[in-house]
Amino acid sequence: MTTYREFHARSIRDKDGFWREQAALVDWKKPFDRVLDYSRPPFANWFVGGTTNLCHNAVDRHLAARGEQNALIYVSTETDQEKNYTFNQLYREVNRFAGILKGLGVGRGDRVLIYMPMIPEAMFAMLACVRIGAIHSVVFGGFASVSLATRIDDAKPKVIVSADAGSRAGKAVPYKALLDEAIALSKCPPGKVVLVNRGLAELPMVAGRDLDYATLRAAHMNDEVPCEWLESSEPSYILYTSGTTGRPKGVQRDTGGYAVALAASMKHIFCGNAGETYFSTSDIGWVVGHSYIVYGPLIAGMATVMYEGTPIRPDGGIWWKIVEQHKVTTMFSSPTAIRVLKKQDPAFLKKYDLSSLRLLFLAGEPLDEPTARWIADGLGKPVVDNYWQTETGWPILAIPRGVEALPSKFGSPGVPCYGYDVKLFSEIDGAEVGADQKGVVGIEGPLPPGCMTTVWDDDERFVKTYWTSVPNRQVYSTFDWGIRDKDGYYFILGRTDDVINVAGHRLGTREIEESISSHPNIAEVAVVGVADQLKGQVAVAFAVVKDASKIATPELKLAHEGEVMKTVDAQLGAVARPARVHFVNVLPKTRSGKLLRRSIQAICEGRDPGDLTTIEDPTALDQIRAAIADR
Ligand code: PRX
Repeated sequence: MTTYREFHARSIRDKDGFWREQAALVDWKKPFDRVLDYSRPPFANWFVGGTTNLCHNAVDRHLAARGEQNALIYVSTETDQEKNYTFNQLYREVNRFAGILKGLGVGRGDRVLIYMPMIPEAMFAMLACVRIGAIHSVVFGGFASVSLATRIDDAKPKVIVSADAGSRAGKAVPYKALLDEAIALSKCPPGKVVLVNRGLAELPMVAGRDLDYATLRAAHMNDEVPCEWLESSEPSYILYTSGTTGRPKGVQRDTGGYAVALAASMKHIFCGNAGETYFSTSDIGWVVGHSYIVYGPLIAGMATVMYEGTPIRPDGGIWWKIVEQHKVTTMFSSPTAIRVLKKQDPAFLKKYDLSSLRLLFLAGEPLDEPTARWIADGLGKPVVDNYWQTETGWPILAIPRGVEALPSKFGSPGVPCYGYDVKLFSEIDGAEVGADQKGVVGIEGPLPPGCMTTVWDDDERFVKTYWTSVPNRQVYSTFDWGIRDKDGYYFILGRTDDVINVAGHRLGTREIEESISSHPNIAEVAVVGVADQLKGQVAVAFAVVKDASKIATPELKLAHEGEVMKTVDAQLGAVARPARVHFVNVLPKTRSGKLLRRSIQAICEGRDPGDLTTIEDPTALDQIRAAIADR
């Protein structure tokens, strides 16, 4: 048996041989001529000349062996619905949706924006897009009009697919109304909007633009739409993610590399087998949803559970009930979700038959030891922390148990996954740092298959953002701090940039600042991420107002804080709403005008604010202290 160490070493040393073997896990229409073209670093082309299709690999190729087995198990505790789709049924639905899109003139390379709640039609739409070579861009349903408009303008979709509403804890959450607002703000409005009517909210239709999905579906009932065979490097999708600037980046994914990476990860990391059931509690709007609700499990021939609802409704046992009912073997969730469950009666962990479950994967944010222990002991199953990013599409660090079940260490997501040449670099001079020393987590190019190939429509931004931030090196920066122990296990210590992680949701503090600044009475604002017991981090804002009379009394202050929060809700969505908005007269800045966010954050967390020799007005920090103490 190969040890994992050898397996990983070979993936770096003999990329051609290693990935050629992994590539056999998926179907190719035309075999590739070369495994890798890295003649134009940092742009990597994997499986050059090969043609394939993600939908074929996720759906069509399973029809012969498992057409009558479940492919999609849909459970909504919001609408009390459960619907199962076999691979045959999923195939039919995807063909209908593909027929609809083609009928609307969508073709290879065209963009389709999907702004949908967790309903099966969202998955049909995604698969239909990749089937016909269209590029989907799924926008998380928690984002509101301005976030959505920014993404519409960047992706320039021909068609948008949406619905009347989602539902959260039994309350309808409008989608169409926000979409209409976003389209009104957009400089590139789509030609057509396809709307699924769930009967949850009013659905006013704009004549000539808005189309009813049920009517279209009926008209395309018997459509058979062949897969478009794409060259491996052709884009499959764009997924926007937050960074240091206020403008989100469109992470672009290829087709062949992504299919291979997911198929390989299902085998070596997730240990999932065809015919079994995978349950990821994420949302299709995030990368985990793309890779491990939709594509990964289906490519592996597994049934995938799509769940609409919270972890605690009707009670804290709902997820375990699903595991029992559908014999889930592999589960994927987030540390925050487990911390939410931890507040429930622990008896729920013992109430259902969980014998089918082999592994619970957790990712998206640091996994603290008490949470890891609580769930591992409660379930009596191994918990597998894994660290990655929207950019990479699949784990960078984990314990690839399908190769070798190395021991895990609390607080560490594990060792570098095969294909990733992970190193730690000094932020000062780019020198590699050794064991037990803190550095920036970087990856030597080429990034392995499945990782982002560029920033949508902006190659230069891809190079500049990701490949020039470690000094004197052309390496990919994760923008995370890390440390490695003598056994080669990594520990992630937080972001090096202004990105924060709220309940596993990645948010840019700059985006939130821009939104708050648009409030007419805000002159200046700083937003920082502050440690939170439940959510990992929360956003906290410090704002300077233009007209101080609006915050003259404690009551007025509170009302004003609420107003600012509402602005963020309306523009970016409740997911980005700061937990607190404090008002101050001046913000701590350097003499050259740079906000001292790190110092503000340190004070909020009761730590030393660090080196303040460059601060313009030292009393600004006292104001931050006073503002926090005030409540
Ligand atoms: O800071 C790291 C943190 O989440 C960031 C990526 O977030 P996102 O693009 O939403 O992708 C999530 C994919 C699972 C990382 O830069 N992060 C993610 N996983 C972990 C983590 N931090 C610590 N431990 C993890 N397991």
